[in-house]
Amino acid sequence: MFEPVKIAPSILSADFANLGRDVALVEEAGAGFVHVDVMDGHFVPNLTMGVPVVRSLKRVTSLPLDVHLMIANPLEQLPWYLDAGADSVTVHVEPLDAEELSRAVEAIRSAGAKAAASVKPDTPVEALLPVLADLDMVLVMSVEPGFSGQGYIEGSEGKVARVVQLARSLGVNPLVEVDGGIGPATAARVAAEGADVLVCGSAVFAAGDPAAALAAVRDEAESARLASLEAASKGA
Ligand code: DX5
Ligand code: ZN
Repeated sequence: MFEPVKIAPSILSADFANLGRDVALVEEAGAGFVHVDVMDGHFVPNLTMGVPVVRSLKRVTSLPLDVHLMIANPLEQLPWYLDAGADSVTVHVEPLDAEELSRAVEAIRSAGAKAAASVKPDTPVEALLPVLADLDMVLVMSVEPGFSGQGYIEGSEGKVARVVQLARSLGVNPLVEVDGGIGPATAARVAAEGADVLVCGSAVFAAGDPAAALAAVRDEAESARLASLEAASKGA
């Protein structure tokens, strides 16, 4: 719970013609994960990358690969990603019923990977309840999934707080990851509410100096998190 905030750069904003170089750059800069956005053109309007990219990245980085599945049929395809070397796999709750969601989480965990579930901006966090006690991580979407470079949806930090509260009420402590529109200012807001892992696409890879941009996001988040922990301990 008191681990430092980790940054998960999303390679959707990297230069695909120089993917190995860009991943090495964020690894050197102290990223905690490599975030891989898999989109199928059905669950979301965009089409991005798939299994071969995960398999290739596994050979060139020692960072954990955080695979975010924005696909209509995660139960069918998630074994492929586990096999390709995903260290954590996130499924969305929207295309799955409660029983399918449980099966997905179990399949991920039984392969030895970390299981995460995500809610789109309009999906209440209560939709996570059937599996919340079994999750290693919860992913709160702070933009509509589909594209990088969108603006942070105001109020998303409230969902982070609600996830933390729900998890506490069950006596569990999954990591909370936030994805979409995260830069130094929004990072501070979500970290103050308990976010542990911050996905950054454009804020890192579209910056002139990605390493400095990554450090700026992490520093802002870390200060906000410490300030909020301090305030909570004083107010308690
Ligand atoms: C959006 C993806 C994100 C995206 C983030 O559907 O899940 O991971 O790449 O990009 P930014 O940080 O630019 O919003
Ligand atoms: Zn993502």
